[in-house]
Amino acid sequence: MTLTLAIETSCDDTCAAVLDGERVLSNAIASQGVHDAYGGVVPELAARQHVEAIGPVLADALRTAQVDASDIERVAVTRGPGLVGSLLCGLQTAKAFAAPASLPLVPVDHMHGHLLSGRLADQQPPEDQPHLVLVASGGHTLLARANGPRLADIEILGRTLDDAAGEAIDKGARMLGLGYPGGPALQRLAADGDPAAYAFPRSQKVPGLDFSFSGLKTALLYVVRDLPEGELDARRADLAASYQAAVVATLVLRVKRAIASTGIEHVAIGGGVAASTALRASLAELGCGLSIPDRQYCTDNAAMIGIAALATDPVGYPEHLALDAYGTGQGPVR
Ligand code: KG4
Ligand code: ZN
Repeated sequence: MTLTLAIETSCDDTCAAVLDGERVLSNAIASQGVHDAYGGVVPELAARQHVEAIGPVLADALRTAQVDASDIERVAVTRGPGLVGSLLCGLQTAKAFAAPASLPLVPVDHMHGHLLSGRLADQQPPEDQPHLVLVASGGHTLLARANGPRLADIEILGRTLDDAAGEAIDKGARMLGLGYPGGPALQRLAADGDPAAYAFPRSQKVPGLDFSFSGLKTALLYVVRDLPEGELDARRADLAASYQAAVVATLVLRVKRAIASTGIEHVAIGGGVAASTALRASLAELGCGLSIPDRQYCTDNAAMIGIAALATDPVGYPEHLALDAYGTGQGPVR
């Protein structure tokens, strides 16, 4: 088996993992707490935090895996899409690690990682048949058919027409006075609320497999705006539960449609929103085969980059020194 060191720094989490083939030996993450006060990720701050954190996180990943740096056989790194300053920190670190030992570098697309996270679940997707993949993160929401593990084998069936699911969750959470990222905080607040208290839209009228969350977001804005003075506190838990239920229903409706239209009965999930307890429970009711990875493999992590690297061509040294990062909105998965 090949020992891979994987690095992921596309947004605000500094991540490194060591894998032996597909087996994850360590999955280290340093999350940046500096963005809360701004209600979203500040790119310049994120890049500076990565520079400080990457050394310790890398050392942590090697230590936990009980692997010596000299045993690593290749380095996988997220090349894009994401914040370019953040990506460059990971890419330069990967090159600096790989170059002295002339190791190959595997440039991985961040979305490829989320699309293959299902391989890190206890129940892996079938190898010999196609399966469906739902990726819902802060930057993307898409539904795909995976005919194999390589990016060229993955066909996008639907995508969001406006906001990503995670973006809708973060913006909704903010309207309810919660910090960033909104998902975990919204989930905690929703636990004390009634998901049927408010009938938020689920974009049923958007046909096919595309998603839309802008109507939902606006609906919450109007409800919050029109609440009588001082009433918001008493209604926050119900609003959180109803809003979260609408995001989940919007996602699951498309999954159901995709199962019906393709006849494929196995679904894998990935992306930060796939950490949602409500989403995981709702998918379990579908009765199809499911690959639901542990939460640490849903939100941004380097283990998924190591997995995607196994289905990506490596670039040898010194050619890989010329690799550049690509930003948000660029790359093979749009
Ligand atoms: O995949 P990810 O970590 O980063 C991107 O590539 O965007 O996704 C981050 C998103 C955020 O919007 C965050 O609020 C959401 O995932 N998220 C959740 C949960 N944990 C994180 N959403 C719902 N429920 C959660 N438990
Ligand atoms: Zn992500």
